[in-house]
Amino acid sequence: MPMNEAQLAEKWRERADRALAQWLPPETLNPARLHAAMRYAALDGGKRIRPLLVYAAGRACGVAAERLDAPAVAVELIHAYSLVHDDLPAMDDDDLRRGKPTVHRAFDEATAILAGDALQSLAFHVLARGLDPAIPDRQRLAMLDELALASGSRGMAGGQAMDLAATGKTPNIAELEDLHIHKTGALIRASVRLGALCRPDVDEPTLQRLDHFAKCIGLAFQIRDDILDVEGDAESLGKQPGVDQALGKATYPALLGLEDARREADNLYRDALASLEPLGEVADMLRWLGRYIVERSG
Ligand code: IPE
Ligand code: IPE
Ligand code: MG
Ligand code: MG
Ligand code: MG
Repeated sequence: MPMNEAQLAEKWRERADRALAQWLPPETLNPARLHAAMRYAALDGGKRIRPLLVYAAGRACGVAAERLDAPAVAVELIHAYSLVHDDLPAMDDDDLRRGKPTVHRAFDEATAILAGDALQSLAFHVLARGLDPAIPDRQRLAMLDELALASGSRGMAGGQAMDLAATGKTPNIAELEDLHIHKTGALIRASVRLGALCRPDVDEPTLQRLDHFAKCIGLAFQIRDDILDVEGDAESLGKQPGVDQALGKATYPALLGLEDARREADNLYRDALASLEPLGEVADMLRWLGRYIVERSG
């Protein structure tokens, strides 16, 4: 019997977990406390949405899963680092993440900062060493650049800075969209693009279509995150809800109300699907993931 989408996603999740566990240094290696914190942050928890997007985009381009492990691990490592730093007292000051105490709670603040730093560096090591050698050098360099841009001041870290600057303020919708596109959208977009770029001869029109899908779904992802912060529960989220309002964060529900925020996420989902239309059934996993992202409750 052929696997359905949910079963394939579970298989990919396990695949990403195994690859992550292999690339992360063992806890027994000195400095053991730092390595333990890195493993604590990256393993055992999380939905693995970014690795799933890498596998799904790769599949849409005809790339086998075993050739996608390195970018899948790399994007998840950047994401895990971003969460460790996002939770720090100087940022969102959160105690719960992925159903466990946050890294600075389970270890200490300095270790959490260093674990984030080291997870980020490890991501680039994995991409530099682990990519399929069949991918031409020039394309591999472009992939490293892609991840660097998506993570830095013109991507996720920049978005986090915009998030802090907007806290306690009421930005207009264009400013809020720009913030979300950077802090969350950039890494989601990079996940899809890196999956597609694992095909050495990926054609430009397909890349453009996948890119548009990723832009829409990346923004929808953060809108859903903001909605869940209002109406979700700690048990299903694995993190404390209600923190956005408590901190005065600029969010879609705060600016538009829950109903309009939901409508906006839904419009983006439709736009994302339309972009995949000509790709046919090879893009079914991307369609399934898009839906999962806008409908999820955790
Ligand atoms: C949470 O991301 C942080 C945001 C970018 C909104 P996820 O909801 O993907 O978190 P995990 O990886 O499943 O824990
Ligand atoms: C953080 O957004 C996005 C990152 C770059 C980590 P949030 O602050 O809304 O993420 P959560 O809700 O803590 O997971
Ligand atoms: Mg935050
Ligand atoms: Mg946060
Ligand atoms: Mg949030």
